[in-house]
Amino acid sequence: MPNASGHSNKAPSALIFDSGVGAISIAREIRQQIPALTLHFGVDNGFYPYGTKSEEILRPRIVEQATAMMAASGADILVVGCNTASTLALPQLREALQKPVVGVVPAVKPAAEETRTGTIALIATEGTVNRRYTRELIEEFANGRQVINVPAPELVRLAEAKLRGETVSAADLEPVLQRIFHSDGGDKVDIAVLACTHFPLLRDELARFAPRSIRWLDSGAAIARRVHWWLDELHLQLPAQAEPSRLFTSAPDPDRHIARAFAEFSPLAQTPAE
Ligand code: DGL
Repeated sequence: MPNASGHSNKAPSALIFDSGVGAISIAREIRQQIPALTLHFGVDNGFYPYGTKSEEILRPRIVEQATAMMAASGADILVVGCNTASTLALPQLREALQKPVVGVVPAVKPAAEETRTGTIALIATEGTVNRRYTRELIEEFANGRQVINVPAPELVRLAEAKLRGETVSAADLEPVLQRIFHSDGGDKVDIAVLACTHFPLLRDELARFAPRSIRWLDSGAAIARRVHWWLDELHLQLPAQAEPSRLFTSAPDPDRHIARAFAEFSPLAQTPAE
């Protein structure tokens, strides 16, 4: 693991990796908790979406892209801002990198602890919903709770569309809301776990169009706390202000829609990470 001696002149930085704009929901939490941490972004747009692809092709791809983008950015910490990638490739990423790797874990444990009705919904990509990692998480932490699994690949697309400036309507969300609230036990759901980093970007719309008020819980704040913990652990000193963000994409971004989506962090577009 690196330590303070290896980072004397460089502002500490983290690279947030995802297939698309999901990294933004994680970055907002980190920015809020650790404003002076420099954030870079690694977007595997050349392989988006992840959630519908097989484990066999995704795992090596994630390791290859995330390690190349870590090398290109020189970041101190890799934040896997993608549940689909985290639930699939965390051990391989930790093995491939000599730096800390922080991965998003679906917020099953807090949801299981905090539900009052004993029924929670887990909304994620098809990959995450069906993953062994997720099943084991439920067995370990949500024993005795009813967990309604809701694969919602269309929410990934809708989050991308929203960040391109499109409006997400009640009709767009209706099929997912049906699957949450009108499945067996859906009338008792009081917490929905947003287990894909794209989904917190639609929290307002989900809350607005849902038939009743529930909690929409994600792991962004927990990730930011973990990043903070690593900065302390590595004795990395933060400057007064974060340096400009950089954006690494695996494929060109000709209409600059990715660059524009990340503009709130003032990234300088850079394609692709070799
Ligand atoms: N943002 C991603 C996640 O957290 C994946 C979206 C996708 O590419 O399917 O799962």
